[in-house]
Amino acid sequence: MRIEAFPDDAWAAAVAARWIRRLHAQPDLVMCLPTGATPRPVYSMMAAAVIAGTVSFAGAQVYLLDEFGGLAPDDAGRCDAMIDRHLVGRIDLPPGSLHKLDPDAVDIDAEAARYGAALRQAGLDLTLVGIGVNGHIGLNEPGSSAESTARRVELASSTQESMRRYGAGHSAAWGLTLGMAEILQSAEVWLVATGQSKAAIVAAALKGPISSAVPASLLRQHPKASALLDQSAASALGG
Ligand code: PGA
Repeated sequence: MRIEAFPDDAWAAAVAARWIRRLHAQPDLVMCLPTGATPRPVYSMMAAAVIAGTVSFAGAQVYLLDEFGGLAPDDAGRCDAMIDRHLVGRIDLPPGSLHKLDPDAVDIDAEAARYGAALRQAGLDLTLVGIGVNGHIGLNEPGSSAESTARRVELASSTQESMRRYGAGHSAAWGLTLGMAEILQSAEVWLVATGQSKAAIVAAALKGPISSAVPASLLRQHPKASALLDQSAASALGG
């Protein structure tokens, strides 16, 4: 796995520049994107680039990585609300090109299977994932195997805790997520992490054992995965 660290104040611009180059090379890029706090400054830069006319999402497809269950449809902490606020509502992605998981589906298992099948059919070119303090990616909590597919999951307490930062009306106990299998099938994966609070888990994921105990570590088995870190998140990696 390629590891790249950037000065804290240059990280977002570096990730955005790479993404813009990727979209220029392949305007019909099929992407899977996360929500949460980490990608927000990158999303702001992408929105500014669209407004400036230097990049376009008009030909792209976006699949949302995960979704919380049991929240009101208008809850600000829902992933679909966050992606709309921070990216999709500010760029030129056509409405039909955003794909998401429906946590209000009557049959949740069927909804997860539908999404997994749609993704396999579309074929992901690029997947961005953040990392939870417990090593999760998407909502693949510790214990998720490399073979796990899109499914309903129960949330770890640290994941429920992090929802407060998202302005959620209340915590969700469960969610829907792409599985490790779909993430690992993406042609390219970028793990993004910033800040001192992620330093220990980033070191565990990138230097510790490859194990489903730390799902992010499974990305090291991917032939084209990169960790794009700021110096703070990279600070426990050593030389
Ligand atoms: P964060 O979440 O970007 O809000 O820290 C990352 C994650 O839990 O996957």
